[in-house]
Amino acid sequence: MTINKYEKAWLIFSAVMVVAFLSIIGYFSFVAGLQTPQEAEVIDPLLIGEDARFSQPRVEEVIPGELYNVYMVGRMWSYSPRELQVPRGAYVKFYITSPDVQHGFHVVGTNVQANVIPGYVTVITARFEKPGEYLIVCNEYCGRGHQFMRAKLIVTEDEG
Ligand code: CUA
Repeated sequence: MTINKYEKAWLIFSAVMVVAFLSIIGYFSFVAGLQTPQEAEVIDPLLIGEDARFSQPRVEEVIPGELYNVYMVGRMWSYSPRELQVPRGAYVKFYITSPDVQHGFHVVGTNVQANVIPGYVTVITARFEKPGEYLIVCNEYCGRGHQFMRAKLIVTEDEG
């Protein structure tokens, strides 16, 4: 059997690429220790409804004007709640989880960005200094309704 020289070159190139990609994944997994945060809270995606935080997604005022907890669920293809309201300057601690597939969470125009992974509770804290309306979008492709997955964050004038 003879193999065309171009075909042979492609075969070698493909094999080298596979080895290169596996090496990169292996390096970051086992040598650099890149993995989900070990302290991340684990949650059974099927039992989200039994968790008081996620059975009633909401904004919870912890210290008026200073600290707010936001309990959110991102699912195919919406966020609950659909609208959030917090005062400017307050610390906002987001707890987000997913019952189905991986989603993204991005507050457009800010550096608030996280992955929402089924089985884990994503926790991020942010402060919003500029009052106004912010669009929250899913930026992780999650199926045919991905582009409709959004919510609204309203930052009010009253200072935290
Ligand atoms: Cu959820 Cu894209």
